[in-house]
Amino acid sequence: MIMPGLFGDLAAPRTHQWKGKDVFVITDSHVRTLYGQQLMRSLAAQDARAWMLHVPAGEHSKNARVAFALQTHLLEKGIRRDSIIVALGGGVVGDLAGYVAATILRGVKYIQVPTTLVAQVDSSVGGKVGIDHPLGKNLIGAFYQPAAVYIDPEVLATLPVEEFRNGLAEVVKIAVALDAKLFDKIESQARRITQQNVPLLTDLIVQAVRLKADVVMADAFDSGVRKMLNLGHTIGHALEAASNFKIKHGAAVAIGLAAESGIAVRMSLLDRRDGDRLIKVLRALRLPTKMPRISSKAKFMSALSIDKKSEGNSAKFVLLKAIGQTSIGVDVPARFIEELL
Ligand SMILES: NC(=O)c1ccc[n+]([C@@H]2O[C@H](COP(=O)([O-])OP(=O)(O)OC[C@H]3O[C@@H](n4cnc5c(N)ncnc54)[C@H](O)[C@@H]3O)[C@@H](O)[C@H]2O)c1
Ligand SMILES: [Zn+2]
Repeated sequence: MIMPGLFGDLAAPRTHQWKGKDVFVITDSHVRTLYGQQLMRSLAAQDARAWMLHVPAGEHSKNARVAFALQTHLLEKGIRRDSIIVALGGGVVGDLAGYVAATILRGVKYIQVPTTLVAQVDSSVGGKVGIDHPLGKNLIGAFYQPAAVYIDPEVLATLPVEEFRNGLAEVVKIAVALDAKLFDKIESQARRITQQNVPLLTDLIVQAVRLKADVVMADAFDSGVRKMLNLGHTIGHALEAASNFKIKHGAAVAIGLAAESGIAVRMSLLDRRDGDRLIKVLRALRLPTKMPRISSKAKFMSALSIDKKSEGNSAKFVLLKAIGQTSIGVDVPARFIEELL
């Protein structure tokens, strides 16, 4: 359900869902301060017995130690198979609380209440839940679908602008990969988007969620068409890794979208005018498009699984064919990537 103002009275439309239930809200330290009490009051008014657990805000909470501590709290408080877990927060809370819900008592129903744009258009849709491992991000997890996702675009008003832009990078990715009309809209309304016009944002979120959900339904376990959603992420992930995660995900994806469209143009897969349109839209949304200086080129190449020593090396990419269309599994020769650096 996607609706401005929904959050203020989240539990109200679903009395039967909450009534008499034990509800465990998992959130982070920032979101708890902003919205925790409002949600708890709303649940109490619906005769739910509700508890709130919170973790420190930030990616460093998405790990096995924090997940285990949450599981311990939930067990101590008597969680049962018919209890409900509510993930209230950004993608970190959604992935972590979803992972806890998937594993505790072999699976307890959970509901996503995403409060960042990234979480609203990306992480809350598709059922990927998980935690990080010292050997890499998101390496431990499961596919576990939420029972419901409640999206209130109004909560984005309190989001720091950098976090808002992170989400815009994912919205552009979804549009440019899957839907030329949505891309046209973003192109013509870029200024109003940066001003966070709520009706416009609501429309974009509805469309982005629908597009992602369609792809996910066609390929729930990420073995085929879902790979389209990796557009911009091959270079993006390599940038994050080579910068030791100093470059934020949204910025890395924006640069990745621009760089990969450049590769697609050079490989004669994409018309230069389409590549230019994409870069213009990213800039209009105040997202970065230029490759930064990479201090560890070896790290960058190894993140792409390219071994510099062997000849004729290539990496598999999702590349743009046109606005709204992609090719998956394209072999990109290493020299095109070296050109970028
Ligand atoms: N499961 C998936 O398919 C999927 C997809 C994309 C990203 N992810 C994961 O999502 C995570 C990133 O998510 P994120 O970008 O939402 O980061 P995040 O959850 O860390 O949130 C960013 C910051 O915004 C704060 N915040 C959240 N909502 C707020 C609000 N309404 N007002 C003010 N502050 C608010 C948070 O406390 C945090 O400090 C990563 O761990 C990534 O791996 C998962
Ligand atoms: Zn992403």
